[in-house]
Amino acid sequence: MTKKLLRTLAGERTDIPPVWMMRQAGRHLPEYRDTRTRAGDFLDLCYTPELAAEVTLQPIRRYDLDAAILFADILLVPDALGLEVRFIEGDGPRISTVTTHADFDALRAPDAIHDHLAPVYDTLRIVSGKLPSKTALIGFAGAPWTVATYMIAGKGTPGQGPAHALKTEQPGLFDALIEHLTDATISYLSAQIEAGAEVVKLFDSWAGSLCGEDFENYAIEPVRRIVGALKSLHPDTPVIAFPREAGMRYEGFARSTGADCVALDNSVDPVWAARHVQKDGPVQGNLAPHLLVAGGDTLIRETHLILEAFKAGPHVFNLGHGITPDANPDNVHLMIDAIRNWT
Ligand code: CP3
Repeated sequence: MTKKLLRTLAGERTDIPPVWMMRQAGRHLPEYRDTRTRAGDFLDLCYTPELAAEVTLQPIRRYDLDAAILFADILLVPDALGLEVRFIEGDGPRISTVTTHADFDALRAPDAIHDHLAPVYDTLRIVSGKLPSKTALIGFAGAPWTVATYMIAGKGTPGQGPAHALKTEQPGLFDALIEHLTDATISYLSAQIEAGAEVVKLFDSWAGSLCGEDFENYAIEPVRRIVGALKSLHPDTPVIAFPREAGMRYEGFARSTGADCVALDNSVDPVWAARHVQKDGPVQGNLAPHLLVAGGDTLIRETHLILEAFKAGPHVFNLGHGITPDANPDNVHLMIDAIRNWT
């Protein structure tokens, strides 16, 4: 196994960790903004394999990264299930909602999503043929809870209020939706692996708003079921889980879900995480994205603190959340140099 990311995810410690960035293909890159303008609509960009492959490869050409991540979006699954999904410039996604049994019954079956998602698999096939031999290809999906929050509210909501309300008021419907999404996600990620994804990642951006038993039932259980199913279909493909803002509940997350690696957000203290999370296996993270805006000595110091904290075990260097559109590409070079030249 020569790709560094795959070695780390298999549990190997390396002197210099592999590095990639969440949202590395995106608006901080002028070449992305050009392709995005050519594509017109964000969804057209996701569903045009040549263009989606091009933007997946842009950060790989510009930076010396250890992984490419498929260019797509977590909201392609609700789109493939038959909801209407739109991205409004500067205002985020808008989706037709699932709040009644009739809405739920109108969804496509979990394994009937593949015709719609075929361009995503084509993107993976194109990228896999063009990547440098040391670069791993990551596929992804949203975790059921996070995707459900958008399907229930019809948009992003700060506290995920509408999803919490449906969970309390119509528990049967809510559970059915989570189960449907869990099955669809297994089918989708399995198809991504068959098309060339060497690693898959589950983004649970809103895991932090689940409390007590809800965390168990909706952040852990669906992920456990997805990881278990993928392991029986594709035992050699590692899974990264990102229960964002899980706080103390990061501890034990890999053990209870079977994930090979846990991605940490930047609210987590790396020294705490080394002791309580990395003890169970590989971790990924967790530089604050805003450090790539100003750069300078603070960026280098914080990069070194993270390297130092995780140096005793397997670690994938990444940000704690997606790189922001105002990040400066020069600062990304600075961060990568600080990692590669670290002694
Ligand atoms: O990381 C990558 O480079 C791969 C591509 C990727 C995108 N979205 C592209 C994208 C990935 C992995 C995602 C995941 C995603 N999408 C998440 C989970 C991670 C997280 O950020 O918490 C969520 C919640 C979404 C849903 C989503 N997509 C929102 C809320 C928005 C609008 C907000 C924004 O940043 O504009 C998007 C749009 C989106 N997805 C963009 C990109 C590059 C920006 C669209 C544009 O070009 O205008």
